[in-house]
Amino acid sequence: MLAPSSRSAELVAGRRALQEGRLTDVVALSLPCFFARTPEDFLAFTSARKPDPETGQPDLEKVGAWLGEHPEAGTAIQAALSSEPPESYATVLYNSIHAFKWTAPDGTERWVRYRFEPEAGERSLSMEDAKERGRDYLQEEILGRDTAAFRLFAVIAGDGDDPADPTVAWPDDRERVEVGRLELSGPDPEREQGDDILVFDPTRVIDGIELSDDQILRFRPRAYAASVTRRSGAPAPASVGAG
Ligand code: HEM
Repeated sequence: MLAPSSRSAELVAGRRALQEGRLTDVVALSLPCFFARTPEDFLAFTSARKPDPETGQPDLEKVGAWLGEHPEAGTAIQAALSSEPPESYATVLYNSIHAFKWTAPDGTERWVRYRFEPEAGERSLSMEDAKERGRDYLQEEILGRDTAAFRLFAVIAGDGDDPADPTVAWPDDRERVEVGRLELSGPDPEREQGDDILVFDPTRVIDGIELSDDQILRFRPRAYAASVTRRSGAPAPASVGAG
């Protein structure tokens, strides 16, 4: 799990065949924004929080020093620390973090971020209740469900919202347009090999949607392509990183 807190649930939300069989991936997190602005910062943080082999714990001085140099990480870290364990993956709000430029048929352009609102409502548990449910309660719960559904919104950037900065959460009053619905109807366990191997690439977009210069967004397909190869031994499909 690559969110800054093991408590923040993740959702790889939409993978939809569009435009004559082309695929696009919409990947979202339960945090309102990310903690690193560049891949180098991400790496430095990952090294800083590496557990000390003697104590098994991260060196708080190193983590503190990184945070001191990176005040932009504050919003995401605070959100991760203050979030309660979700009741279910189906009761979490998920954000795309990155912004994408949507162009309308008349040429109008808008920067948007995606937001998946759970139809079951946002519901969390106390830490005690979550512990009582056992280590794998989220996995067990979602696999036991018949369905889980989300309303998909495009949140439109306002004045001053920088589409290339994933560390800033946009204000809550930004206009939201409902653009779709995601319904999960069952697990998809067969996709560990072949052209349709499970790899999520948020830069794999379709016509009319463009990427910003967000350095984290641009870097992610490389990390995910390497990961899928290590995980499965198979190369990532050619479409990964081609976005
Ligand atoms: C430099 C920054 C980042 C790096 C290096 C990175 C790297 C990775 C890697 C290696 C994986 C495992 C992928 C696999 O084995 O298929 C992963 C998974 C994931 N990442 Fe990131 N990531 C980064 C930023 C982000 C951001 C900003 C988001 C926000 C949407 C995000 C969301 C996810 C999710 C939801 C998964 C789970 C995918 C799955 O279940 O297979 N990541 N990430």
